[in-house]
Amino acid sequence: MSKTKSTAKPSGPSGVQEMIKRGHDVRDLSLAPQGKNRILWADRDMPVLQIIRERFEKEKPLKGRRMSACLHVTAETANLMRTLKAGGAEITLVASNPLSTQDDVAASLVSDFGIRVFSIKGEDRDTYYAHLDAALQFEPTITMDDGADLVHALHTSHREFAGNIIASLEETTTGVIRLRALEKHGELILPVFAVNDAETKHLFDNRYGTGQSTLDGIIRATDVLIAGRTVIVAGYGMCGKGFASRAKGHGADVIVTEINPIRALEARMDGFRVMPMAQAAPLGDIFCTVTGNIHVIRPEHFAKMKDGAIVCNSGHFDVELDLPGLAKLAKRVEKNVVPFIDRYTLPSGSRIMVIAEGRLVNLAAAHGHPASVMDMSFATQALTCEYALKKGKKFAVAVHDVPQRVEEFVAVTKLATMGCKMDKLTAEQKEYLATWTMGT
Ligand code: ADE
Repeated sequence: MSKTKSTAKPSGPSGVQEMIKRGHDVRDLSLAPQGKNRILWADRDMPVLQIIRERFEKEKPLKGRRMSACLHVTAETANLMRTLKAGGAEITLVASNPLSTQDDVAASLVSDFGIRVFSIKGEDRDTYYAHLDAALQFEPTITMDDGADLVHALHTSHREFAGNIIASLEETTTGVIRLRALEKHGELILPVFAVNDAETKHLFDNRYGTGQSTLDGIIRATDVLIAGRTVIVAGYGMCGKGFASRAKGHGADVIVTEINPIRALEARMDGFRVMPMAQAAPLGDIFCTVTGNIHVIRPEHFAKMKDGAIVCNSGHFDVELDLPGLAKLAKRVEKNVVPFIDRYTLPSGSRIMVIAEGRLVNLAAAHGHPASVMDMSFATQALTCEYALKKGKKFAVAVHDVPQRVEEFVAVTKLATMGCKMDKLTAEQKEYLATWTMGT
């Protein structure tokens, strides 16, 4: 890889070829020392991944394999990439969101760890897709996605590379929804693993990770006190649950909006008010969408909001807030009135503050989930990757679950690294659980 500073804007096929030849497209390689410190800092809190990395180093289970990963380029992801590389894989990493890249981490991955990275924070749409294109030009045998953009490209613009792929691994709820839709329509062309659906992933990452990092993003961008505010949480899946409970913990009055009756009931019994967005709109001080769906907050809702309402999204794609609709409604739009905040003034005089252009607030305005929770998600990814490559081309074209033994290893090892011990079943208890004859 060359050691030049990248200023290239790689649109068009020649731009992509140039970038591929260079082996990277990052903001500035001189940021590497700071990035390395951050990668190593995160690594302290990723003991399960460290244990896997040490074994991979010795056994090289991924030797000679090419992996292209489309993930948020963070310090935690860097430690997953180091682990896969230690296992012998040749890695290419691109961003799964134009705003989530940590440029110093990207620089360090290239300079200090010999990993190809094509990712720049704030990259435009063309550059984002040029980077995806580059990731596939390396003809990977396994891919990893956070949101299914690589798999989407393998089904549309780059079908020629799909035949090489043993499996693709998916990190997030939105990606798994896309994959299941492909499967349901009979259009899936390669085996995929729903890593998001592993309990060692979504019970912890989605709940505690999104809960904390979303609040962190809102606070970093706005400096508001959460206590005493009315916070509207749209969606009560694992991410919504996590965020609602953290906001409540900070003293907010939390209202949940839902479309699923079981989740709505769960939110109510967890102590939150539940109502439609149309009713919540005039009550909220802070709004956050975490639904995975499109246009959850629309112009008719923005029009009813209080002056100064803060609005953001922590779902994967920037479609949950209808910002084009808000822009049409507004008489004035001021970009970046303070970093990350765009102010929309409505004809009524009310001002709506939108954080990070409606992109995921936890990665755009903060650093994403803390390392200790990404440790579990990425340990699950690394071991599923090993499992898939060991088996080779034997999987049916379908959405597969992570093997149970991977989940068990991650949970048992994480507990051990946290100094927790469990009880064991006695012989009598085992027998009791196995019988159907014992009653009252
Ligand atoms: N998704 C959410 N937080 C993340 C992080 N810190 N690194 C990678 N992906 C993430």
